[in-house]
Amino acid sequence: MAEYESHDFDVVVVGAGGAGLRAAVEASAAGARTALVCKSLLGKAHTVMAEGGIAAALANVYPEDSWRVHFRDTMRGGKLINNWRMAQIHAQEAPERVLELEEWGALFDRTEDGRILQRDFGGHRYARLAHVGDRTGLEMIRTLQQHAVHRGIDVFMECTITRLLKDGDRIAGAFGYWRESGRFVTFRAPAVVLATGGIGKAYKITSNSWEYTGDGHALALWAGADLMDMEFVQFHPTGMVWPLSVCGILVTEGVRGDGGVLLNSAGQRFMFDYIPEMFAAETADSEEEADRWYTDKKGARRTPDLLPRDEVARAINSEIKQGRGSPHGGVFLDIANRRDAEYIKRRLPSMYHQFRELADVDITKDAMEVGPTCHYVMGGVRVEPETQSSTVAGLFAAGEVAAGLHGANRLGGNSLSDLLVFGKRAGQGAADYAGALGTRPAVDQAAVEDCAKEALRPFEGGSENPYAIQSDLQECMHNLVGIIRREDELKRALEELAVLRDRATRAGVEGHRQYNPGWHLALDLRSMLAVSECIARAALERRESRGGHTREDYPQTDPDQAKFNVVIRKQGDEVTLAHEPKPALPDELRELLEAK
Ligand code: FUM
Repeated sequence: MAEYESHDFDVVVVGAGGAGLRAAVEASAAGARTALVCKSLLGKAHTVMAEGGIAAALANVYPEDSWRVHFRDTMRGGKLINNWRMAQIHAQEAPERVLELEEWGALFDRTEDGRILQRDFGGHRYARLAHVGDRTGLEMIRTLQQHAVHRGIDVFMECTITRLLKDGDRIAGAFGYWRESGRFVTFRAPAVVLATGGIGKAYKITSNSWEYTGDGHALALWAGADLMDMEFVQFHPTGMVWPLSVCGILVTEGVRGDGGVLLNSAGQRFMFDYIPEMFAAETADSEEEADRWYTDKKGARRTPDLLPRDEVARAINSEIKQGRGSPHGGVFLDIANRRDAEYIKRRLPSMYHQFRELADVDITKDAMEVGPTCHYVMGGVRVEPETQSSTVAGLFAAGEVAAGLHGANRLGGNSLSDLLVFGKRAGQGAADYAGALGTRPAVDQAAVEDCAKEALRPFEGGSENPYAIQSDLQECMHNLVGIIRREDELKRALEELAVLRDRATRAGVEGHRQYNPGWHLALDLRSMLAVSECIARAALERRESRGGHTREDYPQTDPDQAKFNVVIRKQGDEVTLAHEPKPALPDELRELLEAK
């Protein structure tokens, strides 16, 4: 048997975005020997794509804000399918986590009297997002990274985990390879925290970069953990549509939060035509007001450009389909005619530069062209709310890879607070679990050998090109499992995915193991395909429209289907689906949802 590099830890955190960093900090602070393993360079994470801010009811701008209103907004935005306890913990603990981040050195924009400034975002009743211009995720990563490094946490960069290792029913560690040398490495640890982010690279147009291939979702599934809510995929309404080389790159919701509006090719503010009953307008006070606001059922004035993301993405999709799109197949996002140049450059410096450099558009003078981009998956590992433990002993998950908090649709800004709140809880949960264990689980050397063999298979002369398979997968998911879904198309997608899975077993690469991107992709294909199948199967199973899951053949939201989550688990080589009843909502929280 070959000897591989191996390391012993109490807690191994896989993924070094906001959730991974926060989990590692907490586990290490609790005394656990902690490793932080990341596929990319430390600091390069999708967290930075949450540009507009961290949602937390600090009540600095609107004193009437509170965790209760934040809880209600999150549940309504998630179309009531959220895990209520996660939504409650999140709303209650987010302010504390933001203040802690500030203590650790994050430099937020300020109100005139020196408190943390908060901006408007879709679906939030009050301006609630603590922010640093339009670079909030970046500031969060910078702060957490500095804190983690000062704690002396062991960081393993450019290292991909391909399998979790088990001792019987419990976690025993993780197996992976160094991307640079191609050499294998095992981490022996009783607790693993998955914080691997999302699945965007299974789709053709996405804000995600190359790392986001559903690794954590697949690792958990293969290790026997439950996945939940996989049918809910979020298309952020505003990605760049032009030039093609940067298609999908995020245009922060902060543009609309700071006054930008969506226009179709006729120059109309089309969002007024798409205000759903759930958020319905009462009456506008005057014609001029009607052009700028609608009044929601609670009497608050809202701009419809800031409806929750699922509503806005569907509306944009519909305008484009009806021939009212922009020249490059999007719609227009205009802030130039709403705010002065100095304000735009101060509040949205990255957007200003992004459009200047990449599209040769000056957003202080001209409208941007934007369209929906796959941004986030609400589904993920089914976790217990207090500790983020999965259904496999020793396996924890936090952030985008975990399900529950966001239900059918995530509100913008709730991701960064999710990472902080549940990253901390997962780190604590994993450290407590590891600390309470009597004997450490053993790593089975034969299982390690199997992992190595599996990883080397693409060198055995397969005839399929991994890049061609990924491109076909992205087409399939974009066309058949995208924003609008139908039974016949979902069935077709499942057939195509079966063919792609078969082709992937014959994916072949040339050369050797030292930095070989084709080989890396051949391995990532396994997780992308596994996750895509879960999404398509869950989407076929849910026969209604809800949040990030729109069925053309079942356009209504069915109250009876709010009573269950679709749970996926692996049995043998098959994945099975089950309807699991949602935990009952306590009366005092139900009252909050119903309150005026
Ligand atoms: O639009 C944005 O700035 C993204 C934020 C988020 O996904 O939370």
